[in-house]
Amino acid sequence: MQIKIAPSILASDFSEVGQTVALLEQNGADMVHCDVMDGNFVPPITFGAQLVKNIRPHTRLPLDCHLMTLHPQTHIEDFAAAGADLISVHVEACGKQTGEVLRAIRALGVKAAAVVNPATPVSVLFDWLGDVDMYLVMSVVPGWGGQKFIPESLKKLEELRSFCVKNGKPDVDIEVDGGVTEQNAHEIIAAGANVLVAGSTVFRSADMRGTIASLRRV
Ligand code: DX5
Ligand code: ZN
Repeated sequence: MQIKIAPSILASDFSEVGQTVALLEQNGADMVHCDVMDGNFVPPITFGAQLVKNIRPHTRLPLDCHLMTLHPQTHIEDFAAAGADLISVHVEACGKQTGEVLRAIRALGVKAAAVVNPATPVSVLFDWLGDVDMYLVMSVVPGWGGQKFIPESLKKLEELRSFCVKNGKPDVDIEVDGGVTEQNAHEIIAAGANVLVAGSTVFRSADMRGTIASLRRV
């Protein structure tokens, strides 16, 4: 499968985010991961659809919007209008409405993903295989960049990839988010993920291009 690297702008300086996304594109990133936090679903507040709209003209890369918000369904139209290419919603926030929310995202012409927190088993995602373009497995507790990768996430990735393969959708993108480094990327990919979010690893690097290339190397 194609390995895609999605640097998270959470680890960047928001005062120059337009230049930052252009730089990510020049340095070989595949997507721009936008961490939207509402101060409720997770304690911090980051940014909303306005910022996504403002960075849209600065890159052709797909904008991968990870909504860590309560009631994500109330925000999806704004993110679609702002230029999001993919919207990820947490099953912990959507509950029984998860399928409905995923279908509403796709109805707006945007790719949809369902996300699970570290404490949520991946089996809750199984019902939505027909409604997603991507699954996202959180490998840290959402809310903060720079945390350590939770090793149990590897088993969850294996279980999810094997479910997709057994159910006739081997090519569904599986994204992993949190604590991805040049050291653990190999085992994460081997476990079944093909989309790697990387915040601190990319933005703390003195060689962004080299780091993105090395994350991709299997
Ligand atoms: C955490 C965010 C992540 C975060 C990853 O809530 O969803 O996308 O930015 O940061 P690193 O790569 O530093 O763990
Ligand atoms: Zn994220």
